[in-house]
Amino acid sequence: MLAPNTALSAKADKQAGAGAPVVEILSADKVFPDGTRALATIDLTVASNEFLTLIGPSGCGKSTLLKLIANLLEPTEGRILWWSGGFDKVGARGRSIAFVFQDPTLMPWARVEANVRLPLDLARMSAAQSRRRVADALSRVGLEGFARHYPRQLSGGMKMRVSIARSLVVEPNLLLMDEPFGALDEFTRNRLDADLVRLWWERKLTTVFVTHSIYEAVFLSTRVIIMGAQPGRICKVMAIDEPHPRDESFRNSPRFAEHCRALSALLTEVSVEQMRS
Ligand SMILES: Nc1ncnc2c1ncn2[C@@H]1O[C@H](COP(=O)(O)OP(=O)(O)OP(=O)(O)O)[C@@H](O)[C@H]1O
Ligand SMILES: [Mg+2]
Repeated sequence: MLAPNTALSAKADKQAGAGAPVVEILSADKVFPDGTRALATIDLTVASNEFLTLIGPSGCGKSTLLKLIANLLEPTEGRILWWSGGFDKVGARGRSIAFVFQDPTLMPWARVEANVRLPLDLARMSAAQSRRRVADALSRVGLEGFARHYPRQLSGGMKMRVSIARSLVVEPNLLLMDEPFGALDEFTRNRLDADLVRLWWERKLTTVFVTHSIYEAVFLSTRVIIMGAQPGRICKVMAIDEPHPRDESFRNSPRFAEHCRALSALLTEVSVEQMRS
């Protein structure tokens, strides 16, 4: 039987992540103007090179937490540090954060290559450099032959690959993904998960990922944060201590099934605790 790391102390939080801190969330609360307390006293360190996944019931604040990390929202209380400093540290030494939403949000009138190039156009990168970056990003998501296509000519999975290519093109130091494959069929999702985990491994990306899927969380993550609702908070932490790169043989292994059972048990514990409180 696997022994999940369910400790909540700051020490356990640091131990599970191998590298230096990329983001430190220090006693963060988020209360929206209408009085909704979406997050309460969140303490979390995202370490360099980890694949951290947030899982929990709908409304527990996963997207809000991801938006705090992206600086799209500010905490009402507490602080957030990026590379041990303020948000200005993100731009320093060329560091960047990319955000992938559930919807691919492509420009329908623009070809795939123009959609992927958008962040580089906004950053006024030279044509020669951006051409190289776009070609590299498209090949990494397996869309080499589709640069001249329009979004309407692509399947849902391919559109999501374009969205991921658009996030990779800025060579992010931190990749944030909010249920990116939630709307896809299971077969497509499994393939994209396998490609994503390979990319994460090859590029040494630091990733924070949101999902509702236990299987996806176990397959991808080095660490899973289990959140509870009302107000949103961190309830449990589980390390998925398995070697990388992971592929179909891991998905079909008894250890994968055991991790899924352990994570499912923790989620049940959280929902039972919540019903009691
Ligand atoms: N702009 C907003 N104004 C007021 N309340 C908000 C706002 N955005 C989110 N909330 C509330 O904050 C809480 C957390 O929302 P959030 O979207 O972060 O949850 P979630 O865990 O991502 O849910 P889901 O799994 O359904 O995507 C919910 O109660 C939600 O209704
Ligand atoms: Mg959400």
